[in-house]
Amino acid sequence: MKLNKNMTNLNDWLPLITQAKKAASNAYAPYSNFHVGAAAIDSDNNTYTGCNVENASYGLTVCAERNFISFAVNQKSTNLKALLVYTQQEKLTPPCGACRQVIAEFLSQDALVASANHLDHLKVWTVAELLPDAFTPQLLT
Ligand code: THU
Repeated sequence: MKLNKNMTNLNDWLPLITQAKKAASNAYAPYSNFHVGAAAIDSDNNTYTGCNVENASYGLTVCAERNFISFAVNQKSTNLKALLVYTQQEKLTPPCGACRQVIAEFLSQDALVASANHLDHLKVWTVAELLPDAFTPQLLT
């Protein structure tokens, strides 16, 4: 997959959409029935995917975004460049608040985050748009 500067077209995101869609089909979401897949690409062009994993103790549910980020870190990848969330929902799904904070840890403020669905709708944000004035690792130095 080739990252370009704008990434505003559906075509730019197709490889991540395909992977995130596949990940969404692995979601464990028996309580909400809301299946989410996430996929991201790092600076070495490696891609990572995740799905949401719910729990009978509802509060222990982990979103697709945080699941794949844990997986990427375990593969020694912390330089993520672009991230896509996929849901089969008419209204596009943006990352939840908790995920925005975790995304801000591993993607730069100008990195792109997108949401797509089965209707070929696409919305793109920067990390900074999703979480302005984020509390980032740089503030701890
Ligand atoms: N969910 C995600 O996986 N990512 C998001 O960005 C929003 C919400 C999951 C959590 C839960 O399993 C289901 O969607 C409904 O909230």
